[in-house]
Order: sequence, then C-alpha cells, then structure tokens
Amino acid sequence: MVISIEKANDSDNLRLLSDDSGESSKDVSVVRSPRKSPLVLRMIVLAFVMLCGIYISSICLKQLGFNLRPNLSVQVTNKRCPNPSIAHSDLHLLHYPNPLTYTREECECTPVRLFAIFSMQRSGSGWFETLLNNHINISSNGEIFSHKERRNNISSITNTLDKLYNLDWFSSAAKNECTASVGLKWMLNQGVMDNHHDIVDYFNRRGVSAIFLFRRNLLRRMVSVLANLHDRDTKPINGTHMSHVHSKDEASILAQHKPAIDTHSLISELKKTEEMVADALNYFNSTRHTILFYEDIITNQTKVMDVLDFLNVPRRKLVSLQVKIHTNPLSEQIENWNDVYKTLNGTQYETFLNADYRL
Ligand SMILES: *[C@@H]1O[C@H](CO)[C@@H](O)[C@H](O)[C@H]1NC(C)=O
Ligand SMILES: *[C@@H]1O[C@H](CO)[C@@H](O)[C@H](O)[C@H]1NC(C)=O
Ligand SMILES: *[C@@H]1O[C@H](CO)[C@@H](O)[C@H](O)[C@H]1NC(C)=O
Ligand SMILES: *[C@@H]1O[C@H](CO)[C@@H](O)[C@H](O)[C@H]1NC(C)=O
Ligand SMILES: *[C@@H]1O[C@H](CO)[C@@H](O)[C@H](O)[C@H]1NC(C)=O
Ligand SMILES: *[C@@H]1O[C@H](CO)[C@@H](O)[C@H](O)[C@H]1NC(C)=O
Ligand SMILES: *[C@@H]1O[C@H](CO)[C@@H](O)[C@H](O)[C@H]1NC(C)=O
Repeated sequence: MVISIEKANDSDNLRLLSDDSGESSKDVSVVRSPRKSPLVLRMIVLAFVMLCGIYISSICLKQLGFNLRPNLSVQVTNKRCPNPSIAHSDLHLLHYPNPLTYTREECECTPVRLFAIFSMQRSGSGWFETLLNNHINISSNGEIFSHKERRNNISSITNTLDKLYNLDWFSSAAKNECTASVGLKWMLNQGVMDNHHDIVDYFNRRGVSAIFLFRRNLLRRMVSVLANLHDRDTKPINGTHMSHVHSKDEASILAQHKPAIDTHSLISELKKTEEMVADALNYFNSTRHTILFYEDIITNQTKVMDVLDFLNVPRRKLVSLQVKIHTNPLSEQIENWNDVYKTLNGTQYETFLNADYRL
C-alpha cells in the first residue's frame, strides 16, 4: 500500500526533490548507493513516504482552497449575474450593489469597483477628480468627509462609506445606473490618519482600492494653501471664495496675491507634510493602492490612462475645465522670495526652489 503510493508518485517525488537545492540531491544519491544497509534504505524509504504524504496533503489543501473560493465569491457576486471573467483573487473587488432608492436596471450585472482618492489640500486633487468624473463610468463624489459629523468616529465613517459604495450617495458626480467605479476624495486630515487602522480593515474587507495623489513640490503646495486662505478672506472674484477656477482671467486674479512665507517654521512645516505622506503610505501598504504625483499627471497623459486601468474602466481621453492658478515661476509668487531661498538653499528641500514644470 505504502509502496504503491510511493511508486505512483515517483515522478512527483523526484520533482519535489529537485525543487529543493543541495539537501535533496544528496538524498537521491544516497538512495542509489548499493552499499547501504537495508535498515538505512528502509529509513530512507520511510522518509520518502513522509515527504510524499506532506506533498499529497499540500495538494489536497490546495484543491480544497480552490473549491472553497467559488463559495466565498457567492457572497460578493450577484447570483443572477454571470460570473465575470476575472482572476479569482480579484473577485472581492467586484460589487453588485442594490441601492435603496432606485434599481440599477439593465446595469444590475455591471460590477462596481470601489475606490478612494487620498490627498492633501492644494495638491491638484480637485482638478484630478473633475478629470475622473469626465469618464462616463466613474463617479467620484467629492470631499464627503469635509463634514465633521461624518467622521466623528469610525462608525459614522463606515456608515458614510457603506452608503456611498451602495450607490446611495447623491452628489453632482452621481452618474447613471451604469457606474462601474465609485469613490470619493478624502483628505488625510479628515479622519484618515486618526482612524487608519479601522479604515484599512474596511478597505481590505470590502475590496476598496486607494489612489494616493500627492504633490512633489511641497513649496508650491504651500504657496497654494496660503493663497487660498487669502482668497477665502478677501474674495476678489465678485465676493466669492474660489478654490478652483475655470478661466485664465480668474486664475490671473487669484495669482496676483503673493503670499509671504514664515521662514522660521518653513522647514519644520515641509518636514511635517513629508512625514504625513510617509505615514499614510505606510498605514495603507496592505491595501490595493497606487501612488500618483500631480506634477506627473499634468505632464503625462499616460499616467491618467494608468489610473483608468487601475480602476478597470475603459481608456478614454479625459478633460477638466479647471484652469491652473499659479503658472509663474515660484520666485514671482512669493513675497519674501530671497528669505525663502536662503532658508532652503543647501537643504534637502533645495530642489523645490528650482523645479518648475514645463507645461
Ligand atoms: C460550496 O457550495 C456548493 C453549492 O453552492 C456546496 O454544494 C458545497 O458543499 C460548498 N462547499 C463548501 C466547502 O462549503
Ligand atoms: C459604461 O457606461 C456605459 C453607459 O452607461 C455602459 O453602456 C457601459 O457598459 C459601461 N461600461 C462599463 C465598463 O461599465
Ligand atoms: C458617532 O458619531 C455620531 C455623530 O456623527 C453619533 O451620533 C454617534 O452616537 C457616535 N457613535 C459613537 C459610538 O460614539
Ligand atoms: C463677476 O460677475 C459678473 C456678472 O455676474 C461677470 O460678468 C464677471 O465675469 C464676474 N467676474 C469674474 C472675475 O468672475
Ligand atoms: C510596503 O510593504 C512592502 C513589503 O511588504 C515594502 O517593500 C514597501 O517598502 C512598503 N512600502 C511602504 C511605503 O511602507
Ligand atoms: C509617462 O508615464 C508612463 C507610465 O505611466 C511612463 O512609462 C512614461 O515614461 C512617461 N513618459 C514621460 C515622458 O515621462
Ligand atoms: C546657495 O548656497 C550655495 C552654497 O551652498 C552658495 O554658493 C550660493 O551662493 C547660495 N545661493 C544664494 C542665492 O544664496
């Protein structure tokens, strides 16, 4: 009995052994040595049988796992919909929501993927989101968590996400029933860092993908933050606060303000921002994610196509109506440029002074 199993799996045994390096080739030569006593030979046969047993049970486990998977997927796939032709490991990314307030009708069997854009204020995420929403199958619902009561505690966060990902969230970004990718824009300081543990759990449990969008030039980001604060206080465009603009004229009005930067706190502020980015990436490392930089996507359309692939929607050209506010060299946009230059010259942030993108 034992021997017959061994024989039947002879080739498997050999394969198993050849997978291991040094040790096993020694074993093989031992088996073939005719001078060894029968006892030693028997021990070796026994060892083979044990190896064989381990091998067989590993195969069995593998098959069991394989059989289990379709049962798991029943929970996420809609029983009435045909199984999508994607890898089993990706099935947990697909959802067939049943919105409470309407039916998805003919798109009932269009699987929906869930995403979140993580970013920081003034990093181009507003522009990026309008770009994504230009896609017929993507619905990104804005800074849902800018309202404090939605991020008070983890249960209000998950309730809000549940509602969004069940396609029950209504915003100007809501598309038709055929939305194939639904998400939101989420600033790191809107409860993400404080609740990262539970949010990562939620993302992994529900198969939510994370898109990180950051700005490489944190000095430019700082100029934008300060200018935006100034605009909120002065409202030069017809008394309205404009975080984003849609014409060159408006952009040039907003760019007229040259903020002065506090050089005493400048380096520590830049450091703090850098650390926050690093922490966020670290926390979300186990989630399905991609990392983007504003400077790359404004100069390289391929980066945007990569995002569409990541979201699994068809590639198409996307446009945003937003116009960039600060297009001049940094030296013309900072009131105390010389002080700022001296503060950063020779530090790790020196490149922020010179790196201007070419549009
Ligand atoms: C998987 O589901 C099928 C029916 O859908 C059932 O017959 C089978 O026993 C299930 N397997 C396990 C391991 O639960
Ligand atoms: C995208 O939306 C269109 C129109 O609603 C729909 O016909 C199409 O099936 C959708 N594509 C995907 C990949 O969901
Ligand atoms: C969470 O916050 C909401 C308000 O946003 C509140 O109604 C609820 O009681 C809070 N839950 C817990 C467990 O603190
Ligand atoms: C201010 O409002 C007027 C009338 O509503 C409009 O014509 C004009 O373009 C606006 N100015 C700017 C800078 O948006
Ligand atoms: C994420 O984890 C992988 C390995 O698990 C590691 O190589 C990588 O450096 C980590 N990335 C971050 C940002 O921590
Ligand atoms: C644009 O991005 C793609 C990948 O997203 C990269 O392969 C390519 O080299 C980039 N092009 C330029 C000019 O940087
Ligand atoms: C920047 O620092 C270098 C030395 O690190 C110095 O030679 C140069 O003059 C400095 N530039 C300015 C504008 O201060």
